[in-house]
Amino acid sequence: MKSILEQLSHRVRGAIALIGVEGDPQIQASQDEKFGDYQSNAAMGLAKKLGRKPREVAEAIVEKLDIDDLCEKPEIAGPGFINFRLKPKFLAKALQSIPLADDLDTDRAGLLPAENAQVVAVDLSSPNLAKEMHVGHLRSTVIGDCVARVLEFQGHTVHRENHVGDWGTQFGMLVAHLRRIRPEIIDRPDTLEIADLESFYVEAKARFDADEKFKEESRETVVALQRGDATTRRIWQAFCNESLRHCHAIYDRLGVRLIDRGESFYNDLMNEVVRRLEKLRDSGESAAVRDSEGALCIFLDGFTTREGEPLPLMVRKSDGGFNYATSDLATIVHRVEVLKATRIVYVVGLAQKQHFEMLFAAARKIGWVGPEVRLEHLGFGNMLSKAGTPFKTREGGTVKLKDLLDEAVARARRVVEEVEPDEARVQRSFTPQQMDNIAETVGLAAVKYFDLSHSMTSDYRFDLDTMLAMEGNTAPYMLYAYARIRSIGRKAGVDFRALPADAPVILEHASEIALAKKILQFADAVEVVGRELKPNVLTDYLYDLAKAFSRFYDKRLGVRVIDASPEAVRFSRLRLCDSTARVLRLGLRLLGISTIEQM
Ligand code: ARG
Repeated sequence: MKSILEQLSHRVRGAIALIGVEGDPQIQASQDEKFGDYQSNAAMGLAKKLGRKPREVAEAIVEKLDIDDLCEKPEIAGPGFINFRLKPKFLAKALQSIPLADDLDTDRAGLLPAENAQVVAVDLSSPNLAKEMHVGHLRSTVIGDCVARVLEFQGHTVHRENHVGDWGTQFGMLVAHLRRIRPEIIDRPDTLEIADLESFYVEAKARFDADEKFKEESRETVVALQRGDATTRRIWQAFCNESLRHCHAIYDRLGVRLIDRGESFYNDLMNEVVRRLEKLRDSGESAAVRDSEGALCIFLDGFTTREGEPLPLMVRKSDGGFNYATSDLATIVHRVEVLKATRIVYVVGLAQKQHFEMLFAAARKIGWVGPEVRLEHLGFGNMLSKAGTPFKTREGGTVKLKDLLDEAVARARRVVEEVEPDEARVQRSFTPQQMDNIAETVGLAAVKYFDLSHSMTSDYRFDLDTMLAMEGNTAPYMLYAYARIRSIGRKAGVDFRALPADAPVILEHASEIALAKKILQFADAVEVVGRELKPNVLTDYLYDLAKAFSRFYDKRLGVRVIDASPEAVRFSRLRLCDSTARVLRLGLRLLGISTIEQM
């Protein structure tokens, strides 16, 4: 099934063509039900082009529209909006066309893959390997994973790039320290285990600050590392592997897959980047590439320092060293030329906004990225403490991500223990193992869902009470809604998968129509998230869906389900239950959240 947005857009585009112009149909869901389900804002823009009144243009479009099978007769409102109200008959038919699911883990709930599959590189997580992952890495990991999941689901080829910081001066210090305290690593690099990376870093740094000789040794070690000295490299590699092992323990727990391609991966390519730039400079091919005070720079329009001086992107420092921009130009070259990506998304905090603006402008300016490639910085705000201050331990240190997740899981356990079994279910009794599993699922789900449900660019306060609330737009509410619907199936004694596939979907009651509409709008939400990379569009949608279901299932506001009659109506309503559950489950899966059958 195509999304309703796509279907309407297609029809309206056709009608616009028939009045002799080309134009974007500009369809969006209506904010207010009064105005129907969707609206087109196309007439306003076209009116200017045509030199006619917007209302006239809207009328002309409606005149040419062939849309009877989808909607009631479109209405024109205000200056020239066209409002569409979907027909229950269309909704019923569309729902019925969704095949029943055999395997919920691979279910697509009737959604088709995109027709124009792309290669996309998503740069996510990307912690610095010198230290343990901390709370600051949560957002990039969770948001990046969600975006990658949605794009993969749409059928795109996604490279999940973990651009870890594994290079630079700090590693000289760490390697020198490691060589001193664990000399045996040189012969047996595979035996390295560091229980606590954070304290290892602190130790190394303390020695570095206190001991001049060690400082010198650290510097020499960086040079040796960069020169490719075999022993130094071995120790460095052992350290990076061990640090990555720590990271992957967290990724596994969060269900996040990644390819580790850290800064060091780009070493040769950075040399190549600089060579190519020097060529541009020397041949005069690009006036933007120039030296400035001994540094190799790319000058860009529209970027100035506070004093109004031009602010170039520096690609090689005056001491000959490379920097962050050098490595990120290399990521672009690799992703465009080797991976053949036509869309590159950097999921990195908003603190780096200017870096990416300059990087993208530079890559285009020197012609390394053409118009066919989309470059996006998916920047996000900070995660703050409950009090709204920077997130720190009581002692003022950074909070390890692992500790944060452990705390969420412990709190989730308490919440789940207090859940009242609802009328639809037999008394619950979980084995300790089931309980562990539920607590882990709910705890991680709460953290992810809360993060994803905020608009990307705003800061948010990490508040376990709010994110673990059983009511409201939270993971526990969504997981509970899902488990509850599944229990309806059990109570009704039907296996949803075995519902008669050809039994008609019957939509009569307002709550049934509203629910059907919501279920079918899942495709719209996925489309918007894939395009605009806003996970909160998906969480908002799922919350609306869960609410529409509550109304449908409500004794007073909704309809009877388990004991509905005749049989055909009962089947139809059970089918609505099944479709809701499938969409909830799939939607949560795209957020990186697994469901539980009982809670
Ligand atoms: N390691 C970097 C940091 O901790 C983030 C890297 C993001 N990715 C990139 N291609 N720049 O700030």
